[in-house]
Amino acid sequence: MPSLPASFIQEVRSRTSIVSIVGQTVKLKRRGNEYWGCCPFHHEKTASFSVSDEREYYHCFGCGAHGSVFDFVQKTQSVTFLEAVEHLARLAGMEIPRPSARDYERERKKTGLTEALEAACLFFEEQLYKPAGRPGLYYLQRRGLNDEIIKRFRLGFSPPGNALKAHLIRAGFNEDVLIEAGLLIRPDNGESPYDYFRNRVMFPITDKRGKVIAFGGRVLDDGEPKYLNSPETPVFSKGDTLYALHLSAQQARKMQEIIVVEGYMDVIAMAAAGITRAVAPLGTAMTEHQIQLLWRYAPEPLCCFDGDGAGQRAAIRAAQRALPLLKPGYSLRFITLPDNLDPDEYIKEHGKSSFETFLQTQYRPLFKQLWQMLLADRPLDTPERKAGLSKDIEECLEKIKDPAVKNFYRQEFKSALWEITSPYKNTAGDFPVRRGPYSKHGDSLITHPSVRPDRDETRMLLAYVLLYPDIGAEFLEDLAECQSSSPRQNEMFGFVMTALSADPDITADRLKEHLHATDQTGIYDFVAAEIEMLNRKNPLPQEAREDISLILSGIHKKALRGELQRLAEQIADADENNARQLWEKYQNLLKEEKDLA
Ligand code: UTP
Ligand code: MN
Repeated sequence: MPSLPASFIQEVRSRTSIVSIVGQTVKLKRRGNEYWGCCPFHHEKTASFSVSDEREYYHCFGCGAHGSVFDFVQKTQSVTFLEAVEHLARLAGMEIPRPSARDYERERKKTGLTEALEAACLFFEEQLYKPAGRPGLYYLQRRGLNDEIIKRFRLGFSPPGNALKAHLIRAGFNEDVLIEAGLLIRPDNGESPYDYFRNRVMFPITDKRGKVIAFGGRVLDDGEPKYLNSPETPVFSKGDTLYALHLSAQQARKMQEIIVVEGYMDVIAMAAAGITRAVAPLGTAMTEHQIQLLWRYAPEPLCCFDGDGAGQRAAIRAAQRALPLLKPGYSLRFITLPDNLDPDEYIKEHGKSSFETFLQTQYRPLFKQLWQMLLADRPLDTPERKAGLSKDIEECLEKIKDPAVKNFYRQEFKSALWEITSPYKNTAGDFPVRRGPYSKHGDSLITHPSVRPDRDETRMLLAYVLLYPDIGAEFLEDLAECQSSSPRQNEMFGFVMTALSADPDITADRLKEHLHATDQTGIYDFVAAEIEMLNRKNPLPQEAREDISLILSGIHKKALRGELQRLAEQIADADENNARQLWEKYQNLLKEEKDLA
């Protein structure tokens, strides 16, 4: 794809009104120099999304989404940066600079290569169903694939000898083109070029529109290499490509989830089981470009790598590589399958619904993955070892470029570190509890405090209660159930909730006086940003009610998910009798989770 000059892009930006572009899809109201509306990137009922022509920028105070008009079009219309620029240029009536003659030449050449690759793909597909391809077809059938899946993934077979070369030359392709496409290889000894892929099951690799750009070929026995991939060519660069992206894009967008697995066969086995939102890098560690590409389909791609050493190393590299790219709302998640199984094997062993449940309940956010990596095999029994960990945490933080994300990571690391190194036990938060509408299940199921707001949620709830205690009092029972995992936050929360339960009619001013009198003004500093935001937003009572309720139901959903995970672990360890009982609980909770959604 020819690129556009930077000056042109700048010109498009300044000729475009971001307010009017955003205004086409978001209802905006003017306040001063800015326009406000409900954020299209997260669910909300009151406007915390601001757009400004002056600053050529949008920003959501609720979820942190922000960017230029190009970002906005890219995200809302799922197009590339260049496509967004071209779209806006057309709207602005600007002429898009024509690609140079050299660009044309390059494009023409690429077209020749993709034509050859498409012809090769058709040939391999045909061969699979001919006598020559029998071993390949038997192999795929033995691995449980039916004709429909074979066709969908366009699997094929490369016969021995130079069958492909003979076929394509006969079809009029030029030898040099076939070499450049990576289909033939010219030996150093001056002899004539021969087929690159021989006697292998063929997996065509496509670009995101489905055009064949390369192949992976698997041996039928245990020869080496197990998978042979096309060399890098003008149309194929391994690090920019994800296997099966064009087949997985639709479900990924729809479910806002994309799953990254290690191998071709994993993607295909998942698709055969109805999970058609998986992609795979091509035998290398995930690249920055691949992470960015994944983010176009879902904000938190789920990396499902094998449980063996290689898989775990891949996870570590992916986590490290993501750090500099992190931005508000975008991250990675990680999941490890048990018993060193890969997704293909797991589905064969445990079935597809078990696999889906596993995916939905057992993942770790990037932070947790990093934390596990940092703690792995490292005793923290001396000051030096603790300091060593603290240094590694610093190095991790150094890699994060986005200041907001970095800040939150710093806070999370701090409280995680505090939790494992502090000799004190959490004693705060002992106030009387009555159950409210978000805590439907009985004590028999949840026996430990698992309704845990995270730091952001704690802050937002605190800010609401401090500014609107009357509305907070309506949620007394649910709020009282919240136990933050940080003792200090829990303590602050406990203070405010104790005051509120003692006097549900307390006004914001009296609450403030009370907190002053008891030396708890630090609470106001802790939530200064949220208070400032709420003052700006100045929600109506009904809006505040809805916001609080939304936060609480989010926390509750998270608690349910945690409980599901705990149960899943227990089920795995339980004997038959207990497992059945636990399984019933599990199903009930799963249903409850669905009802909440
Ligand atoms: P695996 O060895 O885990 O293969 O490699 P797999 O997907 O489980 O394959 P099956 O089930 O034995 O058929 C994972 C991925 O690494 C790349 C391929 O992309 C493969 O899918 N790979 C592996 C290579 O590129 N070359 C190799 O020699 C091996
Ligand atoms: Mn496998």
